[in-house]
Amino acid sequence: MAKPLNFMTAEHAASYINDGDIVGFSGFTAAGAPKAIPTALAARAKLFHEDGQPFKISIYTGASTGCSLDSELAEADAIAFRTPYQSSKELREAINSGRTSYVDMHLSHLAQQLRYSFLPKPKFAIVEACDVTEYGEIVPTTGVGISPTICQMADYIIIELNHHHPTDLRGFHDIYIPTDPPQRRDIPIYKVSDRFGSLSIQVNPQKILGIVETDRQDEVSAFAPLDEVTERIGQNVADFLVAEINARRIPKQFLPIQSGVGNIANAVLGALGSNPNIPPFEMFTEVIQDAVIDLMEKEKVKFASGCSLTITPEELEKVYSNKNYFRNKIGLRSQEITNNPEVIRRLGLITINTALEADIYGNVNSTHVLGTKMMNGIGGSGDFTRNAYLSIFTTPSTAKKGDISAFVPMVSHHDHTEHDVHVMITEHGVADLRGKSPIQRAMTIIDKCVAPNYRQMLRDYVNHCPVSHTPHNLAACFAMHTEFIKTGTMKNVKWENYM
Ligand code: COA
Repeated sequence: MAKPLNFMTAEHAASYINDGDIVGFSGFTAAGAPKAIPTALAARAKLFHEDGQPFKISIYTGASTGCSLDSELAEADAIAFRTPYQSSKELREAINSGRTSYVDMHLSHLAQQLRYSFLPKPKFAIVEACDVTEYGEIVPTTGVGISPTICQMADYIIIELNHHHPTDLRGFHDIYIPTDPPQRRDIPIYKVSDRFGSLSIQVNPQKILGIVETDRQDEVSAFAPLDEVTERIGQNVADFLVAEINARRIPKQFLPIQSGVGNIANAVLGALGSNPNIPPFEMFTEVIQDAVIDLMEKEKVKFASGCSLTITPEELEKVYSNKNYFRNKIGLRSQEITNNPEVIRRLGLITINTALEADIYGNVNSTHVLGTKMMNGIGGSGDFTRNAYLSIFTTPSTAKKGDISAFVPMVSHHDHTEHDVHVMITEHGVADLRGKSPIQRAMTIIDKCVAPNYRQMLRDYVNHCPVSHTPHNLAACFAMHTEFIKTGTMKNVKWENYM
């Protein structure tokens, strides 16, 4: 039965939410995340705190969000619990100082784990939309994330109706909630461009508590200009993939690409796009970022399936001024579909993600600085890497002006195992780890990827270890980290002090 739309202010909407409530928000990255209600909630939390009263909520989202959500609420010390991913400086600080409990999850897991009752259900879903009807039809904006599931599960739904996005964004989305086991069927995506879901999220209109009208662009920041290191990494990835096509390990018509987020990913896409030996390709990815739109205009990217359009306002303007062209080239789906292991394995994805650190045997840490401090989270990198046709990790060979080697004897936190990582690429070269034993992997990584001034140090580590299948000395394997913590650099490790 229809329910008339009930318009209200952001402050009024925020007033329904109280200390201890669990709130699911729409969006994936800054794309499609609510903006006005979180700001009003942060103000409400501050008022409570000034009055000496507690006010903290639990938050589920698709991934990271914009600064109005994670940063403002973290600054107001209003987040008790957060999952599955974040990238806000203020929230990172709250997590690492123990003020916010944070569960770092594979992004494909969250929606189904909510439906399985592994986590408590949200009381509220706060969802940004470009259109909503009195019959309970909600058309998301630029990010889908976990919106279908939180709308289904929440007791109450509040909509931020953002007029910055045109209502005829309808048609970009492909919304589907898989049936839970044991009734689950296959997900019928056999080509990247297959669509099988609905154009909007259908909810019981009686659950829609109110509508807050806004007109605000997504809080997506621009990329840093390419530097020599990111450019060389991009080039090395492109050259490696061309060599794989020539060796017929990748079919000549190529395979769909998944690419992570950030500056390196943008550089990699740029290099793939400008390489004449790489044919026009499709993307089956999480985040559709600026480079993809440029490559679509050049007909180098044929179709992109993703969870969000995380693009700068200038790029979004290009899409909105030519919607009919882009509607046939973009499919926005929930993260349990974009990151679904069944579909990733079926389509045969080439996955390209970024490591924070890696070890000489090919294990990767994507999340924890020096093993303890949360950076962002694993995001979708685990979903894609484990199920890839060909999984690639990129990283600059050093961090902090060369005082940190990205390659160490043993990773200080483990996100991706040696079993899942096929290829490692830095600005220095490409380490192809396929079919290699641990010691062969170590020598390849040291020779091809490690910064020249750390190569002998890592060879010496291996040579000082007792012979074994995976040589290690447990007293020394974190010596590079320990030296960095003690002296501010990894450059002067003396193994004899540790062995
Ligand atoms: N030890 C300690 N610190 C390190 C480090 C190391 N081995 N390597 C990098 N850092 C520091 C950098 O110096 C930088 O710190 P600063 O900002 O204080 O200088 C920070 O860690 C990360 O650098 P940043 O420029 O933010 O890197 P990035 O944008 O290339 O992101 C990841 C790299 C790994 C943090 C990011 O890709 C990520 O969060 N990945 C996990 C999720 C993911 O892969 N998602 C995509 C799946 S679809």
